[in-house]
Amino acid sequence: MALTSELGKQIKLKEVEGTLLQPATVDNWSQIQSFEAKPDDLLICTYPKAGTTWIQEIVDMIEQNGDVEKCQRAIIQHRHPFIEWARPPQPSGVEKAKAMPSPRILKTHLSTQLLPPSFCENNCKFLYVARNAKDCMVSYYHFQRMNHMLPDPGTWEEYFETFINGKVVWGSWFDHVKGWWEMKDRYQILFLFYEDIKRDPKHEIRKVMQFMGKNLDETVLDKIVQETSFEKMKENPMTNRSTVSKSIMDHSISSFMRKGELWGLENHFTVAQNERFDEIYRKKMEGTSINFCMEL
Ligand code: A3P
Repeated sequence: MALTSELGKQIKLKEVEGTLLQPATVDNWSQIQSFEAKPDDLLICTYPKAGTTWIQEIVDMIEQNGDVEKCQRAIIQHRHPFIEWARPPQPSGVEKAKAMPSPRILKTHLSTQLLPPSFCENNCKFLYVARNAKDCMVSYYHFQRMNHMLPDPGTWEEYFETFINGKVVWGSWFDHVKGWWEMKDRYQILFLFYEDIKRDPKHEIRKVMQFMGKNLDETVLDKIVQETSFEKMKENPMTNRSTVSKSIMDHSISSFMRKGELWGLENHFTVAQNERFDEIYRKKMEGTSINFCMEL
């Protein structure tokens, strides 16, 4: 599938088992699939734009016992190897993970269907964050506008069709969230919602801390809440992607840390699109007990 980026560049996405992925990821697929997970790995898993960077910063703050200086050691993209990331000649996500001492904290956007099998075979811990589909779609639309490694999303109307048909990189939101939700009782999975973290960050951060087997004081937890707020992370060059070259991410088109809101949909969805989306949501998510209160 060839799509044009805003730079007029052809981005030829490739498919694996019906899921569109970046070409370099697919070219590196055998290395990704044979990735050797270790039993003490913690894998952060999300659909794109579900708050990955946010949960990464929370996890790192917990891991570093609330030490802000230590969390400044590197940009967030370099702290947790991104398993399916590949951009030759740079070392791939798999290679970076291999070079990392244990216990490792890793990141993926892969669906359960595409996950390297060794993570489940080794009963690793998974930390999944889900965000409601409409906010993910709006966020992804603006991200594709500003990120020149991804295809141009076209108009909002065009993107609506692309998104509901799962023809975005990393595939269908519905299949992704449903797949991880259905797996959650069979493995060590802490399943969180962006919406809950936003409403009561301390409560959710405490859950993450317990899941990681850590025990931090209330004052440290309060500090983590403060340091991982949208406002702080938007100003923090280690989390806001401002260090990424403009030829890759153009923040003058849209910020990476855009709004960070619940139901920050503005006027994106027309009444007709809302109704159609809700209908699709009901059909696709039927049979799951997951409830995002999709109707506004
Ligand atoms: P918006 O585009 O809706 O603002 P990811 O890291 O998975 O790419 O997700 C990015 C989304 O998470 C963006 O959403 C970004 O603003 C939001 N985000 C990042 N840090 C956040 C924080 N501390 N609080 C709330 N939202 C945050």
